[in-house]
Amino acid sequence: MIRTENLGMIFSPGTPDENMVLKSVNLTVKRGDFITIIGSNGAGKSTLYNTIAGTLIPTSGRIFMDNGSGEKDITKEPEYQRARYIGRIFQNPLLGTAGSMTLADNMMICYKKGYKGLRISLNHAMRERFQEHLRVLGMGLENRLEDNVSLFSGGQRQALTLLMTVLSHPVILLLDEHTAALDPHNAELVMELTLRFAAEYHLTVMMITHNMTHALHFGNRLLMLDDGDIIFDLDEKEKAALTTADIVERFRAIKQRELANDEMLLG
Ligand SMILES: Nc1ncnc2c1ncn2[C@@H]1O[C@H](COP(=O)(O)OP(=O)(O)OP(=O)(O)O)[C@@H](O)[C@H]1O
Ligand SMILES: [Mg+2]
Repeated sequence: MIRTENLGMIFSPGTPDENMVLKSVNLTVKRGDFITIIGSNGAGKSTLYNTIAGTLIPTSGRIFMDNGSGEKDITKEPEYQRARYIGRIFQNPLLGTAGSMTLADNMMICYKKGYKGLRISLNHAMRERFQEHLRVLGMGLENRLEDNVSLFSGGQRQALTLLMTVLSHPVILLLDEHTAALDPHNAELVMELTLRFAAEYHLTVMMITHNMTHALHFGNRLLMLDDGDIIFDLDEKEKAALTTADIVERFRAIKQRELANDEMLLG
């Protein structure tokens, strides 16, 4: 579905600040994959997303997308065009929704994106449809359609961002530590919703996380990025038997050094 070929990203090339953040990343994401991505701070995880989403144009290599009608080179496709089929959720719960607009208006935006070409107006039937979707979140938001989204808590906003992103029908969902800023209860709630929506809507998901339990228990594939390289990419079977200690050991075997005891291992 998405394939990167020798993807490289160098910041400030040719200057004393030159920083090679992606070395030569070759990754094939298959339809229906739910990939968890781990790696220390600065490993290049968000930069990988930035190149896939078109926020950054890579310095070398290519990116291909197959939406069902053959592979297409999207390396230079502008971000706004990719946003039609790539859904992205960030750590900051305020980023995915428009705080100064009502919940109903926010829902309208994602519906219009998801049902392009359909003439949709905010009538009674549409409100009922929004309420049905919102009920699934289990947060009582179905009764707050006229409230400004800025009144909602971080957990409510992130759950809403997830719902709205899913309703806009992305082909692939890029989650960048999307539960990291939430309290434990809300983090689990948003995680449960993520798994539920991924299954119900047959999504292809990439999920960056520093939560080892999440990385090990969810998804069908786990990959670790280090210093701009994918240092391992494990399938469902290998992943099922994996423990945090195994990850530390694999890292040591590949890199010939200890994995820094950073937050990556504390989740
Ligand atoms: N737009 C940019 N311009 C210059 N340098 C950048 C830019 N974006 C990222 N970097 C640098 O690239 C490196 C990798 O950053 P990146 O955000 O991809 O790491 P990460 O793996 O997502 O880390 P974290 O777990 O902390 O989010 C860092 O050294 C960072 O400073
Ligand atoms: Mg990051």
